[in-house]
Amino acid sequence: MKRESGLSFDPKKDEINGIPEEMEFLPASDQKKLEKRSPKETALLVGLILGAALLSLMIGLLVWHFHFRPDNTIKKMYNGYLTITNKQFTEDLEDFDSEAFKQLATTVEQTLLETYMGMDSVAPHYVRSTVTAFSEGSVIAYYWLECRVPPEGAAELDEAIRAVSPFSGKSRSGGTKSLRISDLVVDSADPRRVKPPKDHTCAFDLHAVGGEMNTFSSPGFPNEPYPANVWCQWVLRADPHHVIELNFVTFDLESVCHNDFVVVYDSLSPIEKREITQRCGLYPPTNAFKLMSSRNVMLVTLMTDDDENYPGFKAEFRQVPKQRQCSKILQGSGSFSSPYYPAYYPPRADCTWVLKVDPPNHIKVMFNVFLLQNPDENNVCKDYVEINNRRICGEQPPMVELSNGSEMTIKFRSDAAESCRGFSATFEPYDASKPCPEEFACRNGRCIALDLKCDAWNDCGDSSDEINCKCTSNQFRCGTGLCTSNQWLCDGVSDCGDKSDEANCECEAGEMRCANGKCIPEVQRCNLVNECGDNSDEEGCSNTDMTVPCSEHTYTCKDGTCIRKKNAMCDGTHQCPDGSDEHDCNCGIRPYKHSRIVGGMDAEVGEWPWQVSLHFQDKGSICGASVISTRWLVSAAHCFQDERTIRFSDHTTWTAYMGLHDQHKLDGAQKRRLKRIIRHENYNPQMFDNDIALLELDRPLSFTSVVQPICLPEAAHDFPIGKNTWITGWGMVHEDGGLATVLQKAEVRIIRRRNCNDLLSGTVTTRMLCAGYLSGGIDACQGDSGGPMSSVEENGKVFLAGIVSWGDGCARKNKPGVYTKVSKFREWIKGHTGL
Ligand code: ARG
Repeated sequence: MKRESGLSFDPKKDEINGIPEEMEFLPASDQKKLEKRSPKETALLVGLILGAALLSLMIGLLVWHFHFRPDNTIKKMYNGYLTITNKQFTEDLEDFDSEAFKQLATTVEQTLLETYMGMDSVAPHYVRSTVTAFSEGSVIAYYWLECRVPPEGAAELDEAIRAVSPFSGKSRSGGTKSLRISDLVVDSADPRRVKPPKDHTCAFDLHAVGGEMNTFSSPGFPNEPYPANVWCQWVLRADPHHVIELNFVTFDLESVCHNDFVVVYDSLSPIEKREITQRCGLYPPTNAFKLMSSRNVMLVTLMTDDDENYPGFKAEFRQVPKQRQCSKILQGSGSFSSPYYPAYYPPRADCTWVLKVDPPNHIKVMFNVFLLQNPDENNVCKDYVEINNRRICGEQPPMVELSNGSEMTIKFRSDAAESCRGFSATFEPYDASKPCPEEFACRNGRCIALDLKCDAWNDCGDSSDEINCKCTSNQFRCGTGLCTSNQWLCDGVSDCGDKSDEANCECEAGEMRCANGKCIPEVQRCNLVNECGDNSDEEGCSNTDMTVPCSEHTYTCKDGTCIRKKNAMCDGTHQCPDGSDEHDCNCGIRPYKHSRIVGGMDAEVGEWPWQVSLHFQDKGSICGASVISTRWLVSAAHCFQDERTIRFSDHTTWTAYMGLHDQHKLDGAQKRRLKRIIRHENYNPQMFDNDIALLELDRPLSFTSVVQPICLPEAAHDFPIGKNTWITGWGMVHEDGGLATVLQKAEVRIIRRRNCNDLLSGTVTTRMLCAGYLSGGIDACQGDSGGPMSSVEENGKVFLAGIVSWGDGCARKNKPGVYTKVSKFREWIKGHTGL
């Protein structure tokens, strides 16, 4: 064994007070001999004294070295596991206190000791290895390794430990019992995340029984929040040839992952390389996650810091037989998906599907859901689907792939870490000479209705339906040859792709022209906000004072001063001298974490917590509204307009449901009656002008993860043309269809009023906002009225841009929807509610 200076002290070694055993002390000298001093003796005496002095110096040095010298080393922990191929797993190896465990652990620890001490770069820093668990296969031993190293040597040690695979290829046969070791994975670990095996505080070993569901939860759940500064772990095990399915039924942790978090590992060692997922925050039941292991073990850990403790989680798990083969040969038509879909795919999956159809047909594969791990920084896919010689990963919108013949091979691979939801696909044969009977065949394989060709809207997704078109009179020919609707000209969004629709734009009075062609209100110049997008409005500014004379384009602070930035309210930065732009910002927040569009347009639970369902008598939901405080809702005035004998204006006929998701589950919602309805005094039932109403509730609401107020925009708040916003409601899903039971959502784009007026015969007043798509297809409809048009602002806060008001039919071509422009009614709302 080799040790160098600055080395660490291993208490297990046979050393006494830090002095290695091999050192010998000189025997004490005979007193008599010292009395008579012949020159020889004197010389000997001097020599002895010198020797003794030297010896005590050495001892002193050694003692100092091991005991008093300031320890300039830091503790480094590593986590790892190794596979022992010549041992069979037995059940008692699961039990930490069993003889079998102790014996094998000692052998493994001895082997690790010999191995690491045999590595020049590790030996001086090695302290100990400790086996923490065993699992099947043949036997996998999990351990942690402790080292001490001066801080400056830490990176190098990490490197050495990670890079050197001491067991690679050869098997170890040192010691008495020889272990054959095949692979070893080790990685540095956060010392706080290493639980000594003897520490049983908040450590649980759970073994799945039969096919039963087993549950466990964070400490205190559901009666009290989880404790501060805990470090808990749950070892989950299944029988041989099974994997573990883990489902978080409720999950409510602090939203800052750095503070409190759960990590699930595909290993019994908490190694980053085997991390299935790391989570924090609050998840709605519609976005629950079900995780799969690749073998019969899983490790769940919970770590919390010293403040802000939340309810925690409840999880259930069971064992399911391991899918022996995810690879298949499929004939004719059918479906396939990533393993265990819709649960997250397990790590290290490797599947191949061979699809076959009768020649001369070809194959069309449609991926409906596609959610894989994102590519790494070099854009390389770590988990992927390989199709047509392409590797696809990340999140993809529904996509279609075509084969080159009557057979096709598709592969799916996942690496050892970070799982995702996966994919689901169907396939069918098609006639390659007529890929889309009676429809237009997009280049990417999609089929679209013939009348969507050349409608200046990219229906195919690859624009192949919009090339080689004759542009009509209300269309503009882009530099790329595509046609785009005139309505998108000069809206600050490059619809053509080459910005040709944004060039040569004339700006209106009071506007300035940005270098990129966009027009913005003159007052936004030099307001420290890059409204142009290319920063040209903020260049060459000398005046950094934000306060300016008040105008319709400025934001008015509480103290009466005005600042240039229009959307200053609750944007997360203080602009008003009195800070009032960031007061009262407890709005527009969605406590639940939401994934992006996963299949369909059903909203997720808690995705729009300000959405209200207004029931009229026993007729069910006929209008929507938005929560703006514990006592007030805003809706559309036209919902409360009497019709012949029906008294819609009578507040006693209405019931409001807050926190509702599914109309069949009214029980879980907060139900309130109305105390009064305030319709806008200038509401015009013919034109739907000033279509806004305030509803006062009989009893205040309690804000929860599914009931929250939306932010009201200030008078000067700008929702720019081209901006995408969301509309939601339980209204009709088609112009003459039925009502939705689950809350629906759709994304619509704000359209320039001038263009909208061209399409809707000049009926759009300045108190209205137009939004939608001229190609039709996406819109609000009957029953959505009064509901919110939600605009997600840069800092994630959501503002009420509009109220669903009217339209010409629903989702018709060239007939966008019209919304009440809420910013115009800010003062009116304040006047009636004080908000
Ligand atoms: N007035 C309708 C209602 O009562 C809403 C109309 C919205 N229509 C539209 N195409 N955007 O529910």
